[in-house]
Amino acid sequence: MSSKGILVTGGAGYIGSHTVRQLGEAGEKIVVLDNLSTGFEKSILHGDFVKGDTGDSDLVAKVLKDFDVDTVIHFAAHTIVPESVTNPLKYYWNNTCSTRNLLEQCNKHGVKNFIFSSTAAVYGIPESGYAKEDTPTAPINPYGSSKLMTEMMLKDLSLASDLNFVALRYFNVAGSDPQCRIGQSTPEATLLIKVAAEAAVGKRPELYIFGTDYPTEDGTGVRDYIHVEDLADAHLRALDYLRDGGESTVLNVGYGHGYSVREVLDAVARVDGKPLNIIEKERRAGDSPILISVADEIKTKLNWTPKHDDLDEIVKTSLDWEYKLKDNPEGFAK
Ligand code: UD1
Repeated sequence: MSSKGILVTGGAGYIGSHTVRQLGEAGEKIVVLDNLSTGFEKSILHGDFVKGDTGDSDLVAKVLKDFDVDTVIHFAAHTIVPESVTNPLKYYWNNTCSTRNLLEQCNKHGVKNFIFSSTAAVYGIPESGYAKEDTPTAPINPYGSSKLMTEMMLKDLSLASDLNFVALRYFNVAGSDPQCRIGQSTPEATLLIKVAAEAAVGKRPELYIFGTDYPTEDGTGVRDYIHVEDLADAHLRALDYLRDGGESTVLNVGYGHGYSVREVLDAVARVDGKPLNIIEKERRAGDSPILISVADEIKTKLNWTPKHDDLDEIVKTSLDWEYKLKDNPEGFAK
């Protein structure tokens, strides 16, 4: 814990709100900056809230000064991969240009620690299906490129200033707060577990398996699904690491093993107690057969120990949240 403030951009969003909750429970002084374009104010369970944009220099400067911020955890971003393909400039504007603005203000106002939500999308489609931090980066969509550009800015800025950073490359995030206070409320979701949970509660009549002819055990794509609670915890471990003087670093956040689409959908049906209406379709463009993290480094460097590495638990918390959303479209207790 520190008396200095932590600025969490995008703290009203899915991963941001889980991290804010854990930071709040740890007694940290938090201020959330979020423009509420996709987040919900009600999902901010701790700290102060300022509505606004990371691209607004005056506002960012004011927040950094008013809350005596020495650490920034930067979640605010657009995250829908297909949209980044059709509207790339929207992604470069928000994810890259606004982040450059944020970094400029951090540099001006003496921010020491920066934790960045990067993505496995920076790897594109690695040949072996496994990605280690030194696997060559080769994003195949503007979303991945926009995040990789921020990693590059961080590397350069950390060499030229006192700022140190941890960039966390997330694999496939799912699940929600075990107490079901917050969860994933993204409209028009495309991510598998979210889509399957929506189908389970009746929000979608059916769901699709994109590709059954991959060179995997059951022919469907394999991914490294990680519980949002463990992912949020990785940010708290990164915070400790930077406060202890840790050097700037880029780390994968995943469990290092994967599940196929069929295994995930079986788990959803099993946990929910009823079958899903599944339709098999052709492969989705841009999908890798397998994408799994090699995630040893985060365990040694950040002392990160996953506590929720259990597909049924990930699925159960996703379903619990989806049932809550069904009763209340906003997804929060009235
Ligand atoms: C997505 C992003 C990726 C990002 C990652 C983590 C896309 C194309 N990719 O990965 O850049 O790094 O999230 O945030 O959005 N699937 C189905 N039916 C569905 C949905 C998905 O069969 O309705 C399959 C996919 O083909 C894939 C697996 O499920 O094999 C996971 O897909 P998804 O949840 O969309 O995530 P990724 O594409 O792995």
